[in-house]
Amino acid sequence: MELYERIPNNVNLSQDKRLLRALEKWLPNYLDWWREMGPEGFQDKEVYLRTAVGVDAEGWANFDYVKMPDYRWGIFLKPAEADARVGFGDNYGMPAYQEVPGEFRNALRRIIVTQGDTEPASVEQQRELGKTCPSLYDLRNLFQVNVEEGRHLWAMVYLLHGYFGRDGRDEADALLERRSGNPDKPRILEAFNQPCDDWLNFYCFTMFTDRDGKYQLAALAESGFEPLARTCQFMLTEEAHHLFVGETGVGRVVKRTAQLMKEAGDGGDVRELGGIPLDVIQRYINFWFSYSLDLFGGEISSNSADFFAAGLKGRFKEQEQYEDHIATEGSFTITVVEDGKLVPREVPLRNALNEVLRGEYVKDCERAMTRWNKYLRDEGLDAQLYLPSTRFHRHVGEFSGHHFDIQGNFITKEEFERRKAEWLPSMEDREYVRSLMHPVTEPGKIANWIAPPPAGIKGKPFEFEYVRL
Ligand SMILES: [Fe+2]
Ligand SMILES: [Fe+2]
Repeated sequence: MELYERIPNNVNLSQDKRLLRALEKWLPNYLDWWREMGPEGFQDKEVYLRTAVGVDAEGWANFDYVKMPDYRWGIFLKPAEADARVGFGDNYGMPAYQEVPGEFRNALRRIIVTQGDTEPASVEQQRELGKTCPSLYDLRNLFQVNVEEGRHLWAMVYLLHGYFGRDGRDEADALLERRSGNPDKPRILEAFNQPCDDWLNFYCFTMFTDRDGKYQLAALAESGFEPLARTCQFMLTEEAHHLFVGETGVGRVVKRTAQLMKEAGDGGDVRELGGIPLDVIQRYINFWFSYSLDLFGGEISSNSADFFAAGLKGRFKEQEQYEDHIATEGSFTITVVEDGKLVPREVPLRNALNEVLRGEYVKDCERAMTRWNKYLRDEGLDAQLYLPSTRFHRHVGEFSGHHFDIQGNFITKEEFERRKAEWLPSMEDREYVRSLMHPVTEPGKIANWIAPPPAGIKGKPFEFEYVRL
């Protein structure tokens, strides 16, 4: 373990002079990017952060005050298992790949670049949020997510530099050149070009969009390309906190709204009490859920079949959940659009793996909805939140180019345009939510539109000074 090197790592970087030089050249560019595009206005503040200084249970979660530019961004892979094998696909049972299989070099580079691009993109999307934090606890969580997304970029850049030669180096440079939402050099995926300029957006983003990341990483954590699998396995441990921030963040907003709805009584308006109305929360959910579904790719996909066949990208919990790791038999029924109608189509299982992964994701989101709805019932309210149909507001796959209502019924483009404001955040919704965003930075205090968390971070109370301002 090389914890105190310039680039902390557990990949024996000092033994590989070529790679070390390449990464040391990339490092100052990364720091420039962080200073330019990282959290605005807090670079010199001390933040109570978790830093990975190793991959074992004690090492990866060290808590201390640190200024973000001094964060120890490192390269950490889950330790190798002896005799690792390809866990699925045509090469099932063969020794795991230690180098990139030649015929899949381009595809694999694309997967890594696309994943890598999302990491800095989200930091860029969130860079203004610190100025309007609802509490110091939330401010600290935002920064924790940000520095770890920075580390995830490092993880992908390590793979590009280490395994893809010259074009890997070029891709690593390009990851620092694209900018979220910039029309001339946008980030690769659309959800990562959407503005994330208020805290309800942030919680929805970490709930729904980071959760796509979890499922992509989990599928890659099964990979027969061992360095990728081990990288993703470690990233997942960090990702869990991001999902916690999102799920509990939306949950706390719902909880506060429920309290205010009860206080306002029948026919009352929570706006008058400074809360976020439930229908606005619902529209934010609709927006981020639908964009995040797109991230799984087309319902029917020859890429997904090729990646599985090659042993590069597996299913969610491939080893735990499945007995048949070849998956050449069996089919999957997908709903498709044909002549303006929804019809079932049976496709070979391997071609449906994007949809299979998306199904796992939807189940996970439903679990969170149940939890949030309990907050409404706890206050004696009948209103409930729900997930829109997976056909609603899609820009990728079978349903893109068509229009559906929130239940997934076909409608015309005109009807969609007419009713859009029922289902997606309107300019007015966004302005209202933004109007509530005033910074609360006194330890122990919290904004009125969100409930405090039941517990603090790492056993500390909510009142703890998580950021020294
Ligand atoms: Fe990430
Ligand atoms: Fe994340």
